[in-house]
Amino acid sequence: MNFLVKKSASLRGEIDIPGDKSISHRAIMLASLSEGRCEISGLLEGEDCLATIEVFRKMGVKISSNEGVYYIEGNGIKGLKQPVAPLDFGNSGTSIRLCSGVLSAQNFPTTLIGDSSLSSRPMQRIVEPLTLMGAKISSSQDGTLPLSILPTESLESIEYTLPVASAQVKSCIMFAGLFSKGKTKIVEETITRNHTETMFNAFGIPVEITNSGSARTISVAGIETLKPVDINICGDFSSASFFILAALISPDSEILIKNVGVNKTRIGFLHALRHMGANIEILNEVNEFEPTADILVKTSNLKGITLNTDLVANMIDEMPAFFIAAALAEGVTKVKDAKELRTKESDRLQAMANALEAFGVKYHLSQDDIEIYGLGSEGVLKSAEINSFGDHRIAMASTIGSLRSDSETKILDCENVKTSFPNFVETCKQIGININHE
Ligand code: S3P
Repeated sequence: MNFLVKKSASLRGEIDIPGDKSISHRAIMLASLSEGRCEISGLLEGEDCLATIEVFRKMGVKISSNEGVYYIEGNGIKGLKQPVAPLDFGNSGTSIRLCSGVLSAQNFPTTLIGDSSLSSRPMQRIVEPLTLMGAKISSSQDGTLPLSILPTESLESIEYTLPVASAQVKSCIMFAGLFSKGKTKIVEETITRNHTETMFNAFGIPVEITNSGSARTISVAGIETLKPVDINICGDFSSASFFILAALISPDSEILIKNVGVNKTRIGFLHALRHMGANIEILNEVNEFEPTADILVKTSNLKGITLNTDLVANMIDEMPAFFIAAALAEGVTKVKDAKELRTKESDRLQAMANALEAFGVKYHLSQDDIEIYGLGSEGVLKSAEINSFGDHRIAMASTIGSLRSDSETKILDCENVKTSFPNFVETCKQIGININHE
């Protein structure tokens, strides 16, 4: 499926954003391990989270839904059943990496597979710590899928310093830690999203956090039982980011995005944009188990910045949108050490460099650093054909970039937008974006 996007004039309106993908996966997982019925509202009904639901259904967990509310009848911490076939995680890196922590501690074997994008992503980063915990897990020779996991009596606790800033690796170990003897400690030198910590808290699982300088240690111990809890999930900041960008770069625009998660470990994009001169207000902040707010965004003249490297981990999924902001800012934007972008649903550093090229924006990419020479607030992008490489975030960032192109732009291979934002096209239309698909 391709998107066809025309230059838009003023964008206005109020929108809701689908549920947070990271929080949804974690809610499904803990609810499935609890002893009883959890009611989950606001869950993201995107393909990634539906894959997680299917995986737990295949292991005997009863999951039903009615008008967007999900009812999960957990099997208990030791109650998962052996699936009859390989577990298919589709496009979802979060799901396969987090679930590997749970599957490594079962008394039955599993094989974990995914689509072609997921099948080329690195899995050694979870195989290594899980093996240290005593899991019998192996990947293909080049460290990718399929993963094969053999039954394990029980896992050992470890102390592990994350070699990459990755919430998926941290969370995989935290989930495995629930099944281990003793206390598992994970040290992160760069703080990554903490949704596993907040979801463990919501389910009453003790999590100890200690900070030392810029590093943080997270400790979790094994548990015997888990009580069911009802969870209400907020809108996904990463999905909201495309509409924040849309309002900033479109003339005479004002958009209110309602009920979005504004967890401190996720909003690096807001800090970076404000530093560029963006007019963004956070309104009606509410602190439930995750902080949520409405975000009001107005047209702004952006200026190029040197992105603080520490912010990259807190805006990792917003980097494609950030590159478009940089392309339309006045002056140069510099990003250093963004190599984690190469391990996502596509090589996002290269995919966005290609998109900038097609849009006629000058940039310099060397190794894992990029400099983008912005066209400024009056700048016009070349209408183009952009390859999204089947990556939802490249597709959505390029769609929004097209709002400043001289005529119609075609974004190729957008099917996977459904993984995180099933009603993206409708939401675009709601605020006046001229988008169609073929
Ligand atoms: C996620 C963590 C990030 C992010 C992904 C969701 C999570 O991945 O890119 O979309 O829910 O933990 P990494 O931990 O690999 O950076």
